[in-house]
Amino acid sequence: MAQEVARLEKAAKTYLRGGAPIRALAGVDLAVHAGEFLAVTGPSGSGKSTLLHLLGAMDTPSEGRVLIGGRDLAGLDDAALSRIRREEVGFVYQFFHLLPTMTALENAALPLILQGKPWGEARARALELLARVGLAGRGEHLPRELSGGEMQRVALARALVPRPRLLLADEPTGNLDSRIGREVLELLAALTREEGVALVIATHAQEPLALASRRVRLLDGRLAEETA
Ligand SMILES: Nc1ncnc2c1ncn2[C@@H]1O[C@H](COP(=O)(O)OP(=O)(O)O)[C@@H](O)[C@H]1O
Ligand SMILES: [Mg+2]
Repeated sequence: MAQEVARLEKAAKTYLRGGAPIRALAGVDLAVHAGEFLAVTGPSGSGKSTLLHLLGAMDTPSEGRVLIGGRDLAGLDDAALSRIRREEVGFVYQFFHLLPTMTALENAALPLILQGKPWGEARARALELLARVGLAGRGEHLPRELSGGEMQRVALARALVPRPRLLLADEPTGNLDSRIGREVLELLAALTREEGVALVIATHAQEPLALASRRVRLLDGRLAEETA
């Protein structure tokens, strides 16, 4: 069995909205293993983003446990948690989240700069990833000079630059037309496979299902089924 990268154990998340509790996740058990491509599907509001945020140490469960690389996050201090977020987990968002005043190269290199790596090293790794997402020669472009598909490729390069063990992508094609979305998905799958990174995509779209190695479905915060 491949190595376990992250795990939820009876993880629940309740939000309070105007005093009324909203059960976004209702006790989910899920393990993610090295090398797999897991698609988390389900309608809007079913808890997909909440599940991804827990898996990436971006949020904490109201009940249950989250383990990343075998470590229970509840036992870690803020410094250890931010190190995990910075170095072990990559995130790709629907709306790219690139910094508008920074070039594609600077955006892609940012995770290593935040780790305190020298610019030369950060630049070399970012250029390598930009080339692998098909954007060699676009490093000096600002996000506004790029198409949506190109911006998402920069975001993918940025997510992989620190060599994470887990890549979490929340509706990564939700803001792209279907042909470009398909290309971005294939790139996500290929690059994570080459780098040995576990990939978890949350989506209400159907396209990722064919490429995924495993699929789970959320319904009202519960894992409702798992199809082969
Ligand atoms: N920060 C929040 N505060 C209050 N309610 C939230 C918050 N985030 C999510 N929710 C609610 O939790 C449920 C699950 O949301 P989410 O995980 O975003 O689902 P999905 O990604 O599948 O659309 C929804 O009912 C949503 O409105
Ligand atoms: Mg969502």
